[in-house]
This record gives sequence, C-alpha cells and structure tokens, in this order.
Amino acid sequence: MSEYLLIKKVYETKPVDQTIVVKGWIKSLRQSKKFSFLVLNDGTTQRDLQIIVDATLPNYEEVTKLTMGSSVEIEGLMVASQGKQPVELQAKRVHIFCVNTEDYPLQKKETSLEYLREVAHLRSRTNTFSAVFRLRHVLAQATHQFFTNESFAYLHTPIITASDAEGAGEMFRISTLNLDKLPRSEKGQIDFSKDYFGRETFLSVSGQLEAETFAVGGLGRVYTFGPTFRSENSNTARHLSEFWMVEPEASFFTLEDNAKLASNYVKHLITSALKECGDELEFLASRYSPENLKNLEHVMNSPFEMVTYTKAVEILTEVSKTHKFEYPVSWGMDLQTEHERFLAEQYFKRPTIVTDYPKEIKSFYMKQSEDGRTVRAMDVLVPGVGELIGGSQREDNYDKLVKRMAELKMETSNYWWYLDLRKYGSVPHSGFGLGFERAVMYISGMSNIRDVIPFPRTPKNAEF
Ligand code: 4AD
Ligand code: MG
Repeated sequence: MSEYLLIKKVYETKPVDQTIVVKGWIKSLRQSKKFSFLVLNDGTTQRDLQIIVDATLPNYEEVTKLTMGSSVEIEGLMVASQGKQPVELQAKRVHIFCVNTEDYPLQKKETSLEYLREVAHLRSRTNTFSAVFRLRHVLAQATHQFFTNESFAYLHTPIITASDAEGAGEMFRISTLNLDKLPRSEKGQIDFSKDYFGRETFLSVSGQLEAETFAVGGLGRVYTFGPTFRSENSNTARHLSEFWMVEPEASFFTLEDNAKLASNYVKHLITSALKECGDELEFLASRYSPENLKNLEHVMNSPFEMVTYTKAVEILTEVSKTHKFEYPVSWGMDLQTEHERFLAEQYFKRPTIVTDYPKEIKSFYMKQSEDGRTVRAMDVLVPGVGELIGGSQREDNYDKLVKRMAELKMETSNYWWYLDLRKYGSVPHSGFGLGFERAVMYISGMSNIRDVIPFPRTPKNAEF
C-alpha cells in the first residue's frame, strides 16, 4: 500500500501548500470541459474533501467518465478554500480504481432506509450508515473504557450453552443430527445423547449466568460484551434475533448500586458520543431527529428518574383516564413499549429506572423481596426506545432459588453449577444487560434497530 493521508487527518492537520495523496469513493461530482469537482470520502470522517481536477491532466477524458460511488486515488496540492470547506485539493494526478456502471444501486433517488436494507452490503457507502457505524465503534470503545475504569474485567462467556439463562424458552437449537434420520429412543423421543455435545445445546440468550459464576466465583466484577440470540417471533423496530449485549455483574452490589452503575454507564456513552462523534450526531439529527442533540445534552445534566413498578402502574392508570393506551394497565401486567415510552418521553421526560416488578413477569434468578410479590428487578427506559436495560439483584439464597426454580418447573440438574454459587461463598450481587443496538438507536436517534447493526437478523431474514 502506498502512503496516503486519511481524510480525517486532512481535517485535523490541514496541510496547506503540501502535496498529499488521498483515496476514497466519490460522493458527488460535477464535470465540465474545463474542470471537474469531485467530492471524496474515505469513511474515516463525516466530512468530505472537495477536489478540483483541471482539464489539463493527461487522463482528464477518463475523469469525465467517473460516476457516483467510483473509487479513486488522487495526488494533489492542498489549498485554503473560500468555499464551505476550509481546504480543498487541486489534483495533479488521478488514479481510477473502479468506475461504477449505471446499475450502481445507490443512485440518489432511491436511497430510503427501507431500500438500503435491501442492499445492506453497500450501506456503509452512505453518509447515514458511515455515521451510524463510526458512532457504534465509539460506543463499543467507550463501553470497554467505562468498565475498565470501574475495575470490571472483560469476560468472554460462551455462545454455545445447554442452559436457558432467561428461562423464557426462546433459544435457537444447535445440532449436527441429521434432520432426515433423527436418532430416537424406544419411546420415540429424540436421542440427544447422539448429538455433537451428547446433550441438547443452544445459542446463548445471555451470558449472565456464566458472568455471575466469575463475579461471585472470585473475580468480583466482570462484564461481557458479545452476541446473544433470541428466537422470539417479534417483528418490531426494536427486536433482533441476533443482538449484542453488554452485561456487567458485580459482587456486593445492591439493586441501588446497580442502578447507579447503569446510569453512570449510559451517561458515559453519551459523553463519549458527544465528544468523539459530534459531526456524526449533528448529521443524523439534521436528517432524522432534530431534537436529538438537545435531548442528549439535557440527559447529561439531570439524574435518571427512579420509580417502583407499583408507582409506575399508578401513574399509568391515572394517565389512561385521558390518554388512550392500546394495552390496558393493571398491576401484574408486563409494561408494553407504549407504556415504557410514555413514562420516559412524556411523563418524566428523561431516562427512567423502574424497579421492583411482580415476580411472575420476571426471571427466576431475581432476588425475592420480603413482600412475597415482587423481585428486586430494574428496567432502564429511555425516550425513543423504551427498554434499554434489564437487570436485577440476584437471588443469593440457595433454598429460595431452588424453590423458585421448582415453582417454574425448571430442570435444576442443568443448573447445578449455578446453584453451587449459592452454596460456596455466596454474596449479594447484581448486574444488568444493556441491548447494545438499542443504545446505538437511542444515541443516534435512528428509529429502526435494523439500521444500527451491520447485518440485521430478524424472523424470515438472514440475507448477507
Ligand atoms: O431484559 P433482558 O432479557 O435481560 C437479560 O437478558 C438479563 N440476563 C441481563 C442481565 O441482567 N445480565 O435483555 C437485556 C436487554 C434489554 O433491556 C434490551 O435492551 C436488549 O437486551 N434486548 C434486545 N435487543 C434487541 N433485540 C432483542 N430481541 C432483545 N431482547 C433484549
Ligand atoms: Mg427485559
């Protein structure tokens, strides 16, 4: 690879009067007999570089045949500019890698977000998606930075598992058995002892149980950040079948410590985005969600709201006298997205942490409260998205946990290692899971989760 300057660096260093080489793809262009303007971007920054190509260049004829999205290398003199951009490049040499033909799918008129999902392999060529994915990168880095600063160790939990971490039965099976010739027991049941792992196995819905074993087992504070898989049949703008989750788990944390950690983490994500992706956020706000930047700055300056589930239901019941919800509100129901969004967007107008849910609508592992009806759970709800985080203090009492699993008819023998934690050096501990795509949605202001993951997996869709 010959030496060249990234366009990001061009704007950082503004090497006026120097000859430099840049490479990239043409965003837009204007050609004439005397000279051409090319607008170039190489993916490292939201800002494009304007290039002037004079007709005196020996291959000018070829330059006039360039089209949108074509790829080039250009050597030229950097000059200060009177135009919108502070600098521009006067080309001395244009090398053409590839000229796009007329069937290039990203012609201007067709680039709706829906259309772009059909050509997801080319999405990063657009301003919108390069902005979203630079932001996604910054949020991933900020995640590692935040938990490292809080003394959490990054733990790689397994993707293949034999246990259902949420107990919700939404797992994708992994098997090497021949579907046409399934081995069966005498009673006719499938004999999984003949399968690859000698038992039933699945893709993980959450790394939590394994994270708990390391947190309580001895590392104290750990976090996972990896892909998780759910076969729930939810075709919505906020569900994916494969999504990335960040799951911290900390020994000696109460639910209140957990809530504090969650709000500090979300604020750190926003701070990092505002600091490192200002151009991207401005662009996305101007296109898709004009109030987004103002809202994010507002969040930085106010504490998250904390409210119990019981209180939230009281509020929603009162509100439903004048506001029509699709799903009726009553104590014991699971909050629907419309309720979650109402609380965060219209009632509290900021991220809201709802705590102490009825045990029937939450997972088996959550710490049971004295009242016998609720568990020490928390959901963090944010404007525009609804549920961003789900977490809890964990049940650390062996007998109570076994009893709850029995009530839910769970196969405790699969969880013997998880139960061991409650026998040997058990401590109070808590954790949560943040849906990483939902965080990218919230901070970017994009309204469909398919637009913040490179290749979305949803029911009936695994293209690319
Ligand atoms: O609330 P959930 O199901 O919690 C857990 O999985 C816990 N084991 C986490 C923990 O305590 N360690 O999922 C956590 C978050 C949700 O709040 C949501 O943001 C996201 O994961 N999420 C999804 N994101 C996209 N598509 C889906 N199908 C999602 N399901 C959950
Ligand atoms: Mg949840």
